[in-house]
Amino acid sequence: MIPPVLTDGVVTLRGFVSADAPGYAELNRDPVNVEWAGSDARMSAASALAAFRGPVAAGWRSGNELRLAIVGPDGSLAGTTALHSVRSGAASVGIKLAAGHRGQGLGLRSVRLLIRYAFEDLALTVLHWHAAAGNEASRTLALKAGFRLEGTVRGYALRAGRPVDGLVFSRAREDRDPLGLEPVVPTLTDGSVTLRAVLERDIPALVENCRDPEAVRWTTVPVDYSVTDARRFVYETAPAAWRAGSQQYFAVTEAGTDALLGTIGLHAFRAGTAEVGINLGPAARGTGAAEKASRLLIGYAFDQLNLQYLYWQVLLPNWRSRKLAWKLGFQLEAQLRGYAVDRGRAADIWILSLARTDPRIPSTPWDGPNGQRGSDGRVT
Ligand SMILES: CC(C)(COP(=O)(O)OP(=O)(O)OC[C@H]1O[C@@H](n2cnc3c(N)ncnc32)[C@H](O)[C@@H]1OP(=O)(O)O)[C@@H](O)C(=O)NCCC(=O)NCCS
Repeated sequence: MIPPVLTDGVVTLRGFVSADAPGYAELNRDPVNVEWAGSDARMSAASALAAFRGPVAAGWRSGNELRLAIVGPDGSLAGTTALHSVRSGAASVGIKLAAGHRGQGLGLRSVRLLIRYAFEDLALTVLHWHAAAGNEASRTLALKAGFRLEGTVRGYALRAGRPVDGLVFSRAREDRDPLGLEPVVPTLTDGSVTLRAVLERDIPALVENCRDPEAVRWTTVPVDYSVTDARRFVYETAPAAWRAGSQQYFAVTEAGTDALLGTIGLHAFRAGTAEVGINLGPAARGTGAAEKASRLLIGYAFDQLNLQYLYWQVLLPNWRSRKLAWKLGFQLEAQLRGYAVDRGRAADIWILSLARTDPRIPSTPWDGPNGQRGSDGRVT
């Protein structure tokens, strides 16, 4: 077989040429690739060249091991990707990027090109992906490329040469394109605030917001919220919930800049009803964004989803949340002792409701406390 040239206009996959040898040696020596991808920490340009002429060429001759160079938009060697153990319609996908080329979407582009080549040109029927437990970049890339996790096999992978648990993913030819699998999340905007799907670019702000003490105190975000939690939310929890129809998560963003302000969602769907959940980061609190985002969500829930009632549950004594709900027209139904679970403990809760036909303004005068306004005008 002859190595193909595959490109999407940004990334090109092609066979290796001698000039790739120094770059190939360097990316193999990269500590991240040595740790997670079993690459040769001592590879020199000469041994890279020997590999091109030896095992890499032999792999193409036999058709069992198909390794390609990844060339980035600047024309330099960005990495390498391969179809390993090609046999009986199946193969496993491998990829290593050079240090300076990670985090730019080149991995996903490369894998997409390779998948298309495998299914369409080679007529393979199934691809596998192996990742050592803890290799978050690999796990995320597999999911983004439409692989699904089949299981974790004890001691099946190597990390820095030692056995660790291995995650095994698969993607079959008949699986729809991963983009096609993503649920269509509506975009709602009032020109000032926008609700849209949570995306990869939200991850840093999501981590910051969910580590904020108020978020930890009043919501169910995991404690010590990490990038791993945020990735899981963006790539797994939120899409799976949308797909299943069990919960609908939106990112709340500033309409002009698309900067993430927080998240809002509908949960606990039952016939004609759902609960509202909201968590805005500290910078967005007290700006009116929470009210705007809530009004967009309420309008959507009643007018587009045709719900009859919305519920707003507040752990005591989160007056800020309760006052927001009051402003939106929610009415206090009950204060229930120990009805909520707060980090594993029974906690008191207020439950408020809003009917589709209720005016979306306070139904009674405010009878709770008022927040303390500091010298910066912010309420605490
Ligand atoms: C709850 C939340 C969505 C409210 O949004 P917000 O933008 O902070 O709300 P606001 O600042 O407009 O506050 C709402 C009202 O409560 C008042 N308030 C604020 N803190 C208060 C306090 N400690 N006691 C009494 N009233 C308070 C505000 O003054 C405001 O009333 P006003 O408009 O009459 O001045 C937001 O603070 C948040 O995401 N917090 C962290 C997570 C959370 O608690 N989520 C809700 C779980 S049920």
